[in-house]
Amino acid sequence: MALVEDGWAEFIEGTRGRPAMPFLGLALDFVNRPPGLAVELGAGSGVETRALLQLGWRVHAIDGDSHSAAVLAEEAGALGDRLTTEIGYFGDVEIPVADFVFAQFSLPFAGDRLDEVMGHVGQALGPGSVFGGHFFGPNDDWAGEDDVRAVDRPWIDHTFEGWSMLDIEEFDDDSPYGLEGAMKHWHWYFVRARR
Ligand SMILES: C[S@@+](CC[C@H](N)C(=O)[O-])C[C@H]1O[C@@H](n2cnc3c(N)ncnc32)[C@H](O)[C@@H]1O
Repeated sequence: MALVEDGWAEFIEGTRGRPAMPFLGLALDFVNRPPGLAVELGAGSGVETRALLQLGWRVHAIDGDSHSAAVLAEEAGALGDRLTTEIGYFGDVEIPVADFVFAQFSLPFAGDRLDEVMGHVGQALGPGSVFGGHFFGPNDDWAGEDDVRAVDRPWIDHTFEGWSMLDIEEFDDDSPYGLEGAMKHWHWYFVRARR
C-alpha cells in the first residue's frame, strides 16, 4: 500500500474540528522564546496550525495533499494573514529558517527521504530553536509499508546528536487509528529537541 499516493483528503476532512492533540503543548514547553515563525510539516486539516496562530505564531504550513491548502485557509480564518502554505512532498519543499518545526504523525511518510528531510530541519533551526515530531518505530503495523520509514532509538540519538535538549516519549501498543477507530499496533517516538 502506498500511503502517500492513496491521498489524505478524506483524513484531512475528517479531522477538521478535532481538539489539538497534547503533543503541540509538550513541544512548545521546549520553546523558550516569544512566538516567531513555526513550520508545520504535514499540517493536514490545520488544527495545530490554527492553535499556533492563536498563540501568536506566524506559521508556514507544508503538506503533500493539495486538499490541505483550502482547508488550512478556511481553518485559519481571520488569522490567515500570519499563515503561508506550501503544497509539496517532504524533501522537495524548502523548509524556511524557523524558531519551531512541528511534525505530528507526518514524517514517517517521508519514506526513504526521511534522512534528507531531517537534514533540512537541522538547517532550518538555529541555536535555541525547537523540533517536535513523531517517528514510527520498527514494531508499528505500518513499518513495512511502501513510503513509510520506521526508525529506532540509535537513529534518533544519531539524528539529534549535539542538540542541547532531547526528550523521547515512546508508545508501543495497540490503539485506535483513523476516523472509524479501527485498531492497529502503534509504535512511535515523540521527539522534542532544542538545537
Ligand atoms: C497522519 S496525517 C497527520 C496530519 C496532522 N499532522 C495531524 O496530526 O492530524 C499525515 C499528513 O502528512 C501529509 N503527508 C503524507 N506524506 C507526505 C509527504 N511525503 N510529503 C508531505 N506531506 C505528506 C498528509 O497529506 C497528511 O496531511
